[in-house]
Amino acid sequence: MRALSEHPAAFTSSAEEEAARPLSWSEQRLKPDAQRPHDIFLGAWQSNLLLGIVGLQGRYRVKERHNATLVGLYVAPQGSGHGLGLALVQALLAHARSLPELQQLDLTVTEGNPTAQALYERCGFSVWGVMPRAVKVDGRLFAKVHMVCPLR
Ligand SMILES: CC(C)(COP(=O)(O)OP(=O)(O)OC[C@H]1O[C@@H](n2cnc3c(N)ncnc32)[C@H](O)[C@@H]1OP(=O)(O)O)[C@@H](O)C(=O)NCCC(=O)NCCS
Repeated sequence: MRALSEHPAAFTSSAEEEAARPLSWSEQRLKPDAQRPHDIFLGAWQSNLLLGIVGLQGRYRVKERHNATLVGLYVAPQGSGHGLGLALVQALLAHARSLPELQQLDLTVTEGNPTAQALYERCGFSVWGVMPRAVKVDGRLFAKVHMVCPLR
């Protein structure tokens, strides 16, 4: 919720919509589920303080099961600039490579977010397209840059 409210243009989910969900929805999403074996969230912790997150969301129709999407990368201001974002994405990629069915990860990043885009490029993602006017935040339109990273 902090990620969504501090950076409304960076994420497609909106804080208002997510706040309306019951806590049980999030608990369910974080639980391991045999029907969604590629789904996971990783956290960057300092003792019991959660400083950063990143998620993987699988696609489970037979023809696209080899793809999954990196979602929700966020590092809290007190943890940023120390390599946590990079470490989270690298850990997620290492985990994805351990899943035998997965062949590539995709993601979108809002145009004009050079820190995130450079971080993804450093990890092996490359841009394959830009969707103009993909999201509207407070009446302002933003394009989404689409990136892909082969896993093997
Ligand atoms: C994008 C984001 C996740 C990056 O997290 P982070 O932990 O700050 O990232 P890192 O520290 O790994 O790297 C980011 C920058 O810090 C620099 N850095 C890394 N280690 C550092 C250190 N020890 N000291 C100083 N700077 C450092 C990196 O070189 C990089 O700088 P650059 O952008 O000039 O190349 C974070 O800024 C964030 O949450 N942004 C808002 C949400 C967002 O945009 N999410 C992405 C949605 S697609």
